[in-house]
Amino acid sequence: MPQSFGASPACIGLLNAVFDRQKKGERAVLVLPHARGQGDAARRAEEFIELARSAGAEVLGSVPARVEDPNPRYYIGSGKAEEVGEMVAALEADLVLVDHLLTPVQERNLEKLLKTRVVDRAGLILDIFAQRARSHEGKLEVELAQLKHVATRLVRGWTHLDAQRGGAIGNRGPGETQLETDRRLLAERVKQLSKRLEKVQTQRGQQRRARLRNTVPRVALVGYTNAGKSTLFNALTSGAVYAADQLFATLDPTVRRLEDLSCGPAVLADTVGFVRDLPHDLVAAFRGTLAEARDADLLLHVSDAADEEREPMQRVVDGVLEEIDAGEVPQLRVMNKIDLAGAEPQLVRDADGRPRQVWLSAASGAGLDLLRQALGELLGGDRVQAELPLPLSAGRLHARLKAAGAIAGESVDEHGWRLRIDAPRSVIAPLSGGRDADAALLRELLADADLPEDA
Ligand code: GTP
Repeated sequence: MPQSFGASPACIGLLNAVFDRQKKGERAVLVLPHARGQGDAARRAEEFIELARSAGAEVLGSVPARVEDPNPRYYIGSGKAEEVGEMVAALEADLVLVDHLLTPVQERNLEKLLKTRVVDRAGLILDIFAQRARSHEGKLEVELAQLKHVATRLVRGWTHLDAQRGGAIGNRGPGETQLETDRRLLAERVKQLSKRLEKVQTQRGQQRRARLRNTVPRVALVGYTNAGKSTLFNALTSGAVYAADQLFATLDPTVRRLEDLSCGPAVLADTVGFVRDLPHDLVAAFRGTLAEARDADLLLHVSDAADEEREPMQRVVDGVLEEIDAGEVPQLRVMNKIDLAGAEPQLVRDADGRPRQVWLSAASGAGLDLLRQALGELLGGDRVQAELPLPLSAGRLHARLKAAGAIAGESVDEHGWRLRIDAPRSVIAPLSGGRDADAALLRELLADADLPEDA
């Protein structure tokens, strides 16, 4: 069930009725459509079974269906639909999951024919996203996306939901049909959620800017579902407490501080796993949650090294990253599960000697030291070392440099400070890269100080 932040009782009743559609432990039959040129059917089937299980369904059986020319009525052929119906009856299933997007009409026709509830790939992915969403913002986004998904399916009249609905919807106006009431309630809820989301996103934007000011480099874990992101997140931050100081206390709980890097501390964020065929509007709905990836200084793109399909999966992840405008963020590839792949820990560098790939096992810990080394190098970059004269009027810039830990030594007299700057470039860059007067002054001082060319 999605969270219900202050919804009216009638609306909660409606939401309950709608989202109880995918209860835990439901007995499901899977329909696995497959067309020519779609890659390995067995592999896709395996993944869909995993998706169904992670949504909490008990998978009783599956029906592969060759679909070259989709049937507008059922999507799959009508003979195939009859076959599914026989399996549903024989196994006493109470849910049919279809590994494809269905139109609302196809879903309704199948429900009528099979006499059971039908959920398509988008509905299933939404359900899984609902389980994965951990932040307040993520939960709001999921509920909003679920409501929008449901809104397109409101034509059915929902007679099959009447029993569950009970008397929850009690304030229906005279002459107003059930469908109109449902539409009105959904529209109100969508409006309310959109407003809340906007507010949360503004707050998040402010937090992000605060983090930028603090200049701690940010790293985000991305990867195909099941690649091992969460395992790696825990392995890298084990023993680390949730940062309790003012700044980090307000962050999403899936964000933790990374210590023990040669570049100084960084922030590591875990993000929701990606899957193939993510409906486009779903990706749009999760832009906020995925902003951690977009705003990161570095992405750790985690792949399962033991999985033969890892390259298409990497392409799916890169595709989603493009869609959320994170395509340009530098990546370090992490080839995880080397224990299963029979490979050794390894740090692979490109022609310029920059770390590009780390082969490791998040579960056993083998190779984590190489990952820390690579992170230290990539985030630290070159160090900026310079002697800067800073006028007394630049007190705010002095405070910012100090807060960032960039001042290695200083003296002060009536003309101002004399600062000895010694810090990773990743710490200085955000301070000198802005449009404000402090950034302009810092750029000027750094240009005058005798620095390496690309400082
Ligand atoms: P999503 O939450 O679906 O996005 O998955 P995730 O990428 O966070 O993967 P998770 O960390 O949940 O790991 C998926 C499975 O892989 C779990 O069963 C882990 O125990 C297993 N796993 C992770 N890392 C390793 C590894 O290095 N070796 C082995 N053998 N298993 C691993």
